[in-house]
Amino acid sequence: MSKIKQLNLQLGDRSYPIYIGPGGLKQGELLTQKIRGKQVAIVTNDTIAPLYLQQVKSLLTDFKIETVILLDGEQYKTLETLAIIFDALLEKRFNRNATLIALGGGVIGDIGGFAAACYQRGIDFIQIPTTLLAQVDSSVGGKTGVNHPLGKNMIGAFYQPKAVIIDTEVLRSLDDQQFSAGLAEVIKYGLIRDAEFFQWLENNLDALLSRDNEALTFAIERSCTNKAEVVAEDEKESGIRAILNLGHTFGHAIETGSGYGVYLHGEAVAIGTCQAADLSSRIGWLNEQDKQRIIDLFQRAKLPVTPPAKIKTNEFLELMAIDKKNIDGGIRLILLKSIGYASLPMTVDQTLLNATLDEYGRD
Ligand code: NAD
Ligand code: GLY
Repeated sequence: MSKIKQLNLQLGDRSYPIYIGPGGLKQGELLTQKIRGKQVAIVTNDTIAPLYLQQVKSLLTDFKIETVILLDGEQYKTLETLAIIFDALLEKRFNRNATLIALGGGVIGDIGGFAAACYQRGIDFIQIPTTLLAQVDSSVGGKTGVNHPLGKNMIGAFYQPKAVIIDTEVLRSLDDQQFSAGLAEVIKYGLIRDAEFFQWLENNLDALLSRDNEALTFAIERSCTNKAEVVAEDEKESGIRAILNLGHTFGHAIETGSGYGVYLHGEAVAIGTCQAADLSSRIGWLNEQDKQRIIDLFQRAKLPVTPPAKIKTNEFLELMAIDKKNIDGGIRLILLKSIGYASLPMTVDQTLLNATLDEYGRD
């Protein structure tokens, strides 16, 4: 138990623990203490099931378990897949005291959480995130949902889990590209509100890349602390929570403009954050040296830092106009006043935005 850290996301009677460390999935009580009834549904996918499903099931010997193994991929984060989960729960007569466990990356966490939010108007759910991105971002904070053909994450609910169990050991089977994509979100926390953590990342990135347990536990804990504090202050994103989207407006444009599967989400966010840093320096906030520190850290994390040549400025602007932060068609962005201090969403002088899109990484 000693190696497992516990944080709490404070949301009144919906507060919940986040357990972090190596071996969390060997400690059954972390999971079972949060299960009220006897029925447990484990939702996972066909990549993760052969790796970790048995381990999780072995912690649940006293429960009636139903497993729902979905196909792996963002393209299955749909209403159709949601119906597969509902069918399984109804066929097995799952009742309101049932608990749903989402075992997987952000796709499984988002869809599993949304299924729990809807089934019989809401059953308990527990997140067991298995990618670095899910461990530092998507499993914490209660954003759940699925994609619609007309937009990513457009159907969903804010619905908080009862617990999040983060076992750093599961990251050993994650490939390097997915691991680096998760690092983009880790670096984000340093940039938006934790300059000391950014500096720690500069000093300890090599240990993280070698997946050293101590470094990983620290980085995940610090990321989740930052996220938990922001969510506790603004659960439904009426204000400060928007800073968690640093680099995401540029990033979403890159994901959509490049076509599905060309860039991982974290890779597109890394490029987008460098574009946001460039724009922040053009408006006179971030100095050149700090802008370069940001680009260097993403590069060291084996992430791309320049936008794809094929997305020209006009297309960028069109794609960036489709964003939940925008109001009345105007593009609103999170920028950096300095390392460790992000702005709220703001409209930027069009000439400066065009200059970033025309010039940053375009030579
Ligand atoms: P993902 O869930 O698709 O996982 C990436 C790949 O890694 C998948 O093939 C998965 O099967 C595999 N995988 C997962 N764990 C593994 C392990 N331990 N070992 C080996 N392979 C493993 O992608 P992701 O990056 O985890 O999540 C992206 C999703 O998260 C997107 O749908 C995005 O919209 C969502 N998201 C949600 C939030 C939120 O706040 N809810 C935040 C960020 C992202
Ligand atoms: N991933 C952004 C948020 O949770 O608000």
